[in-house]
Order: sequence, then structure tokens, then C-alpha cells
Amino acid sequence: MGRFEPRRLLITGGAGFIGSNLTRRMLAAGGEAAGLEKVVVLDALTYAGHLANLDGVTSDPRLHWVHADICDRAAVERVLADHAIDAIFHLAAESHVDRSIEAADVFVRTNVTGTFTLIDVARRAWADRFDATRFVHVSTDEVYGALGETGAFTEQTPYAPNSPYAASKAASDLLARSYFQTYGLPVVITNCCNNYGPYQLPEKLIPLMIANAVEGKPLPVYGQGKQIREWLHVDDHCAALWSAMTRGTPGESYNFGSGDEMSNLRLVELLADLVDDELARARGTTRALIKFVVDRKGHDFRYAIDSSKARRALAWERSKVLDVKLAETVRWYLANTAWRQAVASEEHARFQAVHYPGLR
Ligand code: NAD
Ligand code: TYD
Repeated sequence: MGRFEPRRLLITGGAGFIGSNLTRRMLAAGGEAAGLEKVVVLDALTYAGHLANLDGVTSDPRLHWVHADICDRAAVERVLADHAIDAIFHLAAESHVDRSIEAADVFVRTNVTGTFTLIDVARRAWADRFDATRFVHVSTDEVYGALGETGAFTEQTPYAPNSPYAASKAASDLLARSYFQTYGLPVVITNCCNNYGPYQLPEKLIPLMIANAVEGKPLPVYGQGKQIREWLHVDDHCAALWSAMTRGTPGESYNFGSGDEMSNLRLVELLADLVDDELARARGTTRALIKFVVDRKGHDFRYAIDSSKARRALAWERSKVLDVKLAETVRWYLANTAWRQAVASEEHARFQAVHYPGLR
């Protein structure tokens, strides 16, 4: 099958972490997506979405901003029609596991009902031209459940989500799959490991640890910090999404990982040392802030991804090595204090207070 070339792209969740990095990449001068006529970003601007994440591209005439909820069928229909959208990267979601444990309602609403609404609108809008369209549904490795010390998730691994977040993403993946099986909508599903890089809200592990380290606050490590995650730089994920859009076979899913696995404690120690170096603090100053706190309920022990299908079928390779990119990421958060202030919110403060009691 030849390459698919999108012209008028919709990115849902484009004001979030990965969506904003993807939007920037799509609009980059001389980049791989130079053929795009327009990029429409649709985002509800929840506590996790911020226009500050789109700094640097908001004045690009190809960028169109739509403040809307993916559950709002009429709004989604309008966007697809008004902009003659022919391709969708669907990233809008509730994405934080700990919040899904606190209250799962909004995860079911956005991740399941929202995905249903979006994909159903796309199916109806594109009914007479499926061949000229693509729907890339962006998902996570967490749908596969947890691993022990060995092994890695392949695209054949049965779904066994453990958190309400993972379950809601799994449900959305299955809906997306069903729209290919039933209607032939050209859906490509991607399942990626943990991302890191600029513009990630400081309530996920890496930016939270950096933000707390700067302010001299405790670094909360769940349990004993023995859980293992695989970390992929967001640029590599965005490249992967483009390859899934342009080279992926409809009806297929693709796993993306880096091979860079690390225990949470090791990662936090590395981050602490990097912050010490950058701020010219004595080594060990920031490690002393590490505080072991009550473990996450149902905490998955290990995730690991087998990316061989993506490498073979999409010619995708990860290019950013954690060792190098982590230092660069720390420097980005330290340099961007104005951004950190811009994405702070009452909701963020509320969650921190409830979720980490007695830690200030
Ligand atoms: P994020 O929380 O930073 O961003 C989500 C965005 O979606 C926000 O801008 C938010 O305002 C928007 N949104 C939420 N509900 C909405 C609604 N009802 N309508 C419209 N917009 C809404 O998340 P992220 O880390 O950028 O993740 C993006 C996608 O990638 C998610 O689907 C997530 O499951 C998936 N993913 C994330 C990771 C990771 O490590 N961050 C890894 C694999 C897959
Ligand atoms: P997170 O960034 O929430 O991603 P996910 O749960 O999707 O993997 O967390 C990454 C790991 O870090 C996870 O094992 C939970 C752990 N963690 C902590 O130990 N302390 C924290 O304060 C946070 C937010 C996460």
C-alpha cells in the first residue's frame, strides 16, 4: 500500500503534552509534514490543557484553534465539515492514572464516550471516501496490564487493563477497532510506553520531581520505587505517530517503545543528581528530598514494549537515548519557569493537596 498523505489534519488534545509537541512537529518548517494545508487543534482545555503549550506556533496561518469537547457531537461535526478534515490524530483523553483512582467518571466520559462520539462523526463524515482518510487512535501500553521481571508486550498480548484509566483506554481501543471491522473506517491504533520531554504537566512523575526539586519540596516515590517503566522521548513518539498515519495499515495496531527501562527510584535519583548539577548544588542535596509515600492502589509492576513490528512495518526507530535526553529535559523545565507558572491551576493545587497529604 502506498503512503497516505494527509492534507487537513485534526489533532484532538492538541493543547496537552503529546498533542502540543505533535502540533509543533506538524507545523515545523521543512518538516516531514510540510505538505499539510492546515492543522486544526481541538481541545476542551481541562486542567491538563493549556494554550501556553502551543507557544511558538499560534501565529502560524495553517493552525486553527477550536475550543471544544470531543463529547459535543455538534461541535465535532462542525469541525470536520468546516475544515474538510481528512485525517485525525486522536489524543484528547484523561491521562493520569492517580486521578482515575480518585474518580473514574470523567475517564469513562472522555475516553470512552468522547472517543465514540469522535469516531462515529468521522465515520459518517467520511462515508463516501474512506480511502482518502485516516483515523489514528493514540493509546497506551497500559491496556496490556502489568509484566513481571521479564518479557515485553507485543500487539498480540491480550488486553488486561488494571487501572480505571487503562480500562477506559482499552475500551476506546476496542471501539476504534470495531469501527474498522464493522464499517471499514481506516483506523490505526498506536500503543506507546511512558513519554517524557517538554510541556508535560508537573503532576506526572518526571516534571513533578523536577518542579518539587527546584522548590525544595519532597520527592514522593510510591511504595519502594521498585516499579519499572519504559521511557520514550515525546519527539520519538510524535515521529512514530506520523509513521503510523502515513505508512500504517488500517485495522492494524503498532506498539512503540524505547528499550530504556528503569525503576522509579533509579529515575528519581538520576533526576535529583541532574538538578543538583544544573543548579550547582552539592551532589546529594536533592536526593535527600526523596520521600517514600503510600503506594498507588493496584500499582502495575512493570511495562515493557516490543517495537519490532513498528520497526519492520513502519521503518520507525527511536532516536533519542534516555541518558542524553533526560538532562536536556531537566534543563528545559529549569529554564521555563514562566511556562510552569502558566500551567499552574487551582485544580492542580487541589489534586496535589489531596493526593500527597502532609507532604508540604
Ligand atoms: P495530557 O493529559 O497532557 O493531554 C490531554 C489533552 O486532552 C489536554 O489538553 C486536555 O485538555 C484534552 N482533553 C481532555 N478531555 C477532553 C475532552 N473531553 N475534549 C477535548 N479535549 C479534552 O495527555 P498526554 O500525556 O498528552 O496524552 C495524550 C494521549 O496519549 C492520551 O490519549 C494518552 O492516553 C496517550 N498516551 C500518553 C502517554 C504518556 O506517557 N503521556 C503514553 C502513551 C499514550
Ligand atoms: P506516571 O508519570 O503517573 O505514569 P504511569 O502511571 O502512566 O506509568 O507515573 C510513572 C511511575 O512513577 C508510576 O510507576 C508511578 C510512579 N510515581 C511515583 O512514584 N510518584 C509520583 O508522585 C508519581 C506521580 C508517580
